[in-house]
Amino acid sequence: MAQLIDGKQISNEIKDELKAEVEALNRQGKEICLAVVQVGQDPASCVYVNNKKRACAYIGIRSEAYELSETVEEEELLALVEKLNQDGHVNGILVQLPLPAHIDEDKVIRAISPDKDVDGFHPVSVGKLWIGEPGFLSCTPAGIIQLLKRSGISIDGKECVIVGRSNIVGKPMAALLLREHATVTVAHSHTRDLKEITKRADILIVAMGKRRFIGADYVKDGAVVIDVGMHRDENGRLCGDVAFDQVSEKASAITPVPGGVGPMTIAMLMNNCVETMR
Ligand code: GUN
Repeated sequence: MAQLIDGKQISNEIKDELKAEVEALNRQGKEICLAVVQVGQDPASCVYVNNKKRACAYIGIRSEAYELSETVEEEELLALVEKLNQDGHVNGILVQLPLPAHIDEDKVIRAISPDKDVDGFHPVSVGKLWIGEPGFLSCTPAGIIQLLKRSGISIDGKECVIVGRSNIVGKPMAALLLREHATVTVAHSHTRDLKEITKRADILIVAMGKRRFIGADYVKDGAVVIDVGMHRDENGRLCGDVAFDQVSEKASAITPVPGGVGPMTIAMLMNNCVETMR
């Protein structure tokens, strides 16, 4: 049976470290403020936004919520972002995704000042990541690096396979693993012989958005398996892209869903908020 990589516990460790750091900043009279912008009331987004606000409260970061109607004009959202860019009290700006179809998501992301881009989605942050300059790191991939390091799993020289090529997970994950000196393969929906490729992985990171798709036959004996997926199964329980029961028999270490990658994303968002003051 594989070692369970406990994202809940590791994220709590990180949040406690950040809380101590913020307390020290507060003693110097420095406060951190995160603006959280939500458009509409998508149920999943509401859960994520509430978790982010709760993490802020725990760590000692002030969060300001901006709730806009589902039908808000793109122009009005862009004007709010610009106002927050100019507001000296606001250190970080987070616009919860996805946005309604009538709003151009890329345009909104580009409107956020790169100095306040705590999601790490702005092209300036992405560019810095790829050339190895310090900057805001995309939260989920940065959280996965922390999960591996804090579980004592070395990355240097390892064969890493990522399944999924999104801007939020797959692509920045590749950049971060390269930075850690891994050999990186990114597989995606057009990849031929996926199984042959995933079976090469010492570290397999799955972010494909298909419920329990990766079975034991996709995994090398003793591999480390990181599951970024989040779905409801036929009984309404949360599950990932990996068939946990069978893969955990073959892997050496594996993240559960829930309690694996999910909590790390928020911990790294908090880290990016503190980073605005470092
Ligand atoms: N929607 C799903 N994940 C994320 C995230 O990490 N940040 C934002 N802003 N929206 C999301």
